[in-house]
Amino acid sequence: MSEKQQEARHVAIIMDGNGRWAKRKHLPRVMGHRKGVEAVRALVRSLKDTPVECLTLYAFSSENWKRPEDEVDDLMNLMRKFIKSDLPEFIANDVKLHILGDWRSLAPDIVAMLEDALAQTAKGSRTLAVALNYGAQAEIAAAARLAAKQGEVTEESIAANLYTADLPPLDLLIRTSGEVRLSNFLLWQAAYAEMVFTEILWPDFTPAHLMDALDQFSGRERRFGGR
Ligand code: FPP
Repeated sequence: MSEKQQEARHVAIIMDGNGRWAKRKHLPRVMGHRKGVEAVRALVRSLKDTPVECLTLYAFSSENWKRPEDEVDDLMNLMRKFIKSDLPEFIANDVKLHILGDWRSLAPDIVAMLEDALAQTAKGSRTLAVALNYGAQAEIAAAARLAAKQGEVTEESIAANLYTADLPPLDLLIRTSGEVRLSNFLLWQAAYAEMVFTEILWPDFTPAHLMDALDQFSGRERRFGGR
C-alpha cells in the first residue's frame, strides 16, 4: 500500500457541542447529550463498513465534575442506559469494550455494569474505547510512576503503562463543534496523529462525517518527523 492510501486503524473523537445543539433548538442541555448518544450508536454501527479497528470516545473528562450536579447526573444516567441497551448489540456485532480513565471511582453500580460489559465483550474484534473520568496529564503521570517502579523510565515503558497500551497507535483525532484544542485528551498518543476539526456539532455528526474524515486522513502524507 502506498503512503497516500493509508487507512486509519485507530480514530479518537472529542465529542463536543451537545449543549450548543440543544440551545440552538431551545431544548434543555440533556436533550443534546441524549442526541449525542444516538450519534455514538450510529457511529459504532457503522464501524464494520470502515477500516477502523478502534474508536476511542471522550465521554467524560476528569474536569467534567465541575459541571452542575444535575448535568453530571444526566451524563451518568445516559451512560447507564447506553451500556444496558447497547451491550447485546456490541456482543452480536463483535465489538469489544475498553475503558480509559479512573472509571473505577465512578458510582459502584456503573463500575459493576462496566466490569460486566468488559467481561462479556472481551472476545470482540473491533474496539470501542470510552474515556470516562479521564485526563491525559494524570494518565501520563501515573504511567511514569509505574514505569519507575518497574525499572527504567523510557518512552516505551511509559507507553506500556498508558490506558491505550493494548490499542493500535492513534492515527486520527477528530474534534467537533469548531473548538480547536485537545482539552487534556490523549496528549501522549496524539504525538503523530492527524487531526480533523469540524464545525459540525456532535449530535449532528453522522457516519458520513466519519467517512469524510477518513478520506481526509488517507490523503495526508505522514512523515513522523522524517522527510
Ligand atoms: C460535550 O458537549 C460533550 C460532553 C461533555 C459529553 C459527551 C457525552 C455524550 C455524547 C453522551 C455520553 C456518551 C456515551 C458514550 C454514552 P458540551 O456539553 O460541552 O457542549 P457545549 O460545548 O456545546 O456546551
